[in-house]
Amino acid sequence: MGKKNKKTPKKKALTPEEDAKRIAKLTKRGQSGCVEVRGSVIHGRGVYATRDTEPEEHVIEYVGNFIDKEESERRAWALFAESEKSGGAAVYIFNVSKKWDLDGDVEWNPARLINHSCDPNCEAIQVKKRIYINATRPIKRDEEITFDYGFSADSYVDHPCLCGSPKCLGYIVGKDYLKKFRKLQKKAKKAAAEALEG
Ligand SMILES: C[S@@+](CC[C@H](N)C(=O)[O-])C[C@H]1O[C@@H](n2cnc3c(N)ncnc32)[C@H](O)[C@@H]1O
Ligand SMILES: [Zn+2]
Repeated sequence: MGKKNKKTPKKKALTPEEDAKRIAKLTKRGQSGCVEVRGSVIHGRGVYATRDTEPEEHVIEYVGNFIDKEESERRAWALFAESEKSGGAAVYIFNVSKKWDLDGDVEWNPARLINHSCDPNCEAIQVKKRIYINATRPIKRDEEITFDYGFSADSYVDHPCLCGSPKCLGYIVGKDYLKKFRKLQKKAKKAAAEALEG
């Protein structure tokens, strides 16, 4: 017997009315009673607590459009090319299942404006196919909401960090890549010293 074709099923196209309803529903889900968007001290716009928040509380849901892996890869490369040009470091795509990713780069997703910090107060967690930004420690009203972007250390120089935390690494690097980051920094310092010596 031949193997079954396990291609990602195409989603049924929605009518404009159905799509408007879908977006209205997601817009509502993406709103939060405990945060709002403000000008950020870290970068551009950010998301700020409007009341004190307890650890593990859902702060806001990260909403967006489901896209298949092929489309996700195409968009990730486009973002990468853009960041190469601008030096920006925007990531909006979450892996939610073997077949689907969630692209949060839509204006009805305020959580897309959350900035990175080297000492974040939130983390992104997945519950079934939904992504929530949850508090990891008590958050005071007017504190900026942040999470770890989880960037690899490979091109750290392209992503300077302005989080302002005493624990700031100087670059946007995920906590899982600290060892590699230290190694690369050491290598770069050695190369710079050697170049100075001639
Ligand atoms: C997903 S957006 C976050 C919202 C962004 N502040 C805005 O106004 O569009 C990611 C962008 O914010 C910037 N950013 C986020 N956290 C940062 C940080 N800790 N330091 C410097 N820039 C940061 C990155 O350069 C990236 O271009
Ligand atoms: Zn930092």
